[in-house]
Amino acid sequence: MPAKTKWSLCILGWGALLASSAHGQIADAPDDAVAGIPVNYTEAKAGSYKLPDALKLNNGKAVTDVKTWRAERRPEIRKLIEQNWFGRAPGRPADMTFDVLERSAPAFDGKAVRSQVTIFFTKDHAGPRMELLVYVPANATGPVPLFLNMSFSANNLTVNDPGVLRGRRWDRQSLKQVPAEPPRPSATAPTAGFRPLPVEQFIARGIGVATFNKDDLAPDFVDSEGLGVKSLYLKPGQTRPADDEWGAIAAWSWGASRALDYIETDKRIDSKRVAIHGVSRLGKTALWGGAADERFAMVIASCSGEGGAAIARRNYGETLAHMSAPTRFPYQFAPNYAKFGQKVDEWPVDANMLLAMIAPRPLLLQTGNTDKWSDPYGEFLAAVAVEPVYRLFGKRGLETTVLPKPGEAILHDIGYVMHEGGHGTVPSDFEVYIRFMEMHLKK
Ligand code: GCU
Repeated sequence: MPAKTKWSLCILGWGALLASSAHGQIADAPDDAVAGIPVNYTEAKAGSYKLPDALKLNNGKAVTDVKTWRAERRPEIRKLIEQNWFGRAPGRPADMTFDVLERSAPAFDGKAVRSQVTIFFTKDHAGPRMELLVYVPANATGPVPLFLNMSFSANNLTVNDPGVLRGRRWDRQSLKQVPAEPPRPSATAPTAGFRPLPVEQFIARGIGVATFNKDDLAPDFVDSEGLGVKSLYLKPGQTRPADDEWGAIAAWSWGASRALDYIETDKRIDSKRVAIHGVSRLGKTALWGGAADERFAMVIASCSGEGGAAIARRNYGETLAHMSAPTRFPYQFAPNYAKFGQKVDEWPVDANMLLAMIAPRPLLLQTGNTDKWSDPYGEFLAAVAVEPVYRLFGKRGLETTVLPKPGEAILHDIGYVMHEGGHGTVPSDFEVYIRFMEMHLKK
């Protein structure tokens, strides 16, 4: 064997060894199939790939300074992600109004002060609207940082507070919004299995909490493309957004920006210290929301997985093909996204580019070691890949290529924590979120 070949084999072998020790926290599992598409859960079969370079302009020139990043590369990446991933969304609606239903109601035994606000997007108040629920610490002496949560359910079903107004949910049969389940009977008797957003935990640390229901913006099922806020922007004759226009995720994150528009009017909150957060599909939404709207000071994405922080070019767990399969979640993205289901290597973007748009703002990725479908190691690798962009700003990435053990948080400007367990947030995650917020957003 020629010396050169031997040497490259040796590098390859060493690379594989490094890789296997790095992801050793996540055990291989048998192959599976979803929507008729095979699912790989063996790290050694995740394949090799070349990521699009976040620090190279479309014309091939390297980006070596913040000025070129801001003026040229970031706008290029934004355009690529809008066209091929989440879709273009409109700006702030000219006729938006805030109807403050309640401004200073005592909540959580007087520890917090609650506001409830309806946000109307047009003059027609019969059209789409969103309900925003906000808590600030009752003992705050100045504007507080805020944790903006996006929820899978109506506000009254997201928190354990009987004073919250009943929200709405989509009915798949009538394609209309109908009242959500009634509010929880009492603050002390939550329904079995209900894990409320731990508002008091944030309040006790001097951090405000706001939440809204994603479904107020757009429904979350197939063939819902023209409904919700998207209906307000269809041109005559158009029944669904065009190939490069917003899917549900962009509509949900657009809602987060509208929530922030309101928050900017509330002097008890420091709108320059707002962290956007969501779990799963809402983790993807938090990433795109924070990427698209630089007013968000921090992004905390839980188990965002494929279509979020996990590298799409890796064949592990959910893939772009699963995500965009007709029976699954194509409506969450710009129609162009599905075109790459069978050719992800030609996709002009990947998770490293999405995370790059968040730089230099603090970014926390939270995963779970048994949530293999969401590829927690793929999220870690994207965080490693985006580090040079953070370094351009003098910020700290993870500064390791070794996946930390479950429960061991790395909290720099980029943060990563993988809990022991599956999909979603567990109670210990909230403590990590708060620590990350205290590090970066507390004065
Ligand atoms: C599905 C989907 C994931 C998504 C998750 C969720 O599992 O495949 O991509 O993150 O739903 O939103 O709960």
